[in-house]
Amino acid sequence: MSVSLRMDGVRFSYPSAEGDVLALDRFDLTVEAGEVVCVLGPSGCGKSTLLALAAGLLSPEQGAIVAGERPVEGPGVERALVFQKHALFPWETVRGNVEFGPRVGGVGEAERRKRADELLSAVGLSELDGQYPRQLSEGQRQRVGLARALANEPKVLLMDEPFASLDALTRRQMQALLVSVWQARRQSILFVTHDVDEALALGDRFVVLSARPAKILLERRVARPRDPEALYSPETRALREEALRALGA
Ligand SMILES: Nc1ncnc2c1ncn2[C@@H]1O[C@H](COP(=O)(O)OP(=O)(O)OP(=O)(O)O)[C@@H](O)[C@H]1O
Ligand SMILES: [Mg+2]
Repeated sequence: MSVSLRMDGVRFSYPSAEGDVLALDRFDLTVEAGEVVCVLGPSGCGKSTLLALAAGLLSPEQGAIVAGERPVEGPGVERALVFQKHALFPWETVRGNVEFGPRVGGVGEAERRKRADELLSAVGLSELDGQYPRQLSEGQRQRVGLARALANEPKVLLMDEPFASLDALTRRQMQALLVSVWQARRQSILFVTHDVDEALALGDRFVVLSARPAKILLERRVARPRDPEALYSPETRALREEALRALGA
């Protein structure tokens, strides 16, 4: 079962000595239950802020964020964030990182092991389960980050350019993995990327944001989401052009 994620009239600014930095103002965005929404926008426009708010790591100054029926008032296992830069626990092994959430959440040992085995195999890291994060490449760490997020079986996945540091082939594999995970569980996904093709390959819908404070400049439904063939269709080409134009490319 998945839940929707609604942001209504959200305002957030970071305090700074030279005056507050307004990242979001009167910002509205809804991800329907089971929908995949991709967010594109220039660097510094507020995309990570948006995800941190949805994750409950930051609180809006104004407006509301609601997951399903519940106002977001802090972090919760039903909403998992995959960080832009990995944020693994350095003192835990790869397996320890993946099992961390379920362990804290009271999931039994056998079930925890099973989830970790499946996820580590899915991200291609079974062999490295005893390593520590510092012994891994950046791309491997990012894959552990994905497995760790999925281990809690979240209903909402918040992903901050999760595949940006991966090589092209691994990236394709991780996108395919995400699609198969989504097909099995239909999480609602809010996916930030700077790659228009990634947004077209993964999303049911995408939005292009303006520079800070982020406003939605363009919002489009993808005609044949997650259909690799459709990436070269005339409709998708037209969407790509529109998105690139909105991004100012
Ligand atoms: N901790 C902070 N303190 C002060 N300002 C911040 C802080 N974090 C972010 N900002 C500012 O808020 C704005 C939005 O930042 P955010 O990280 O959300 O951008 P972004 O869209 O994710 O950018 P990128 O694509 O580079 O990751 C930026 O202008 C940034 O300088
Ligand atoms: Mg960011």
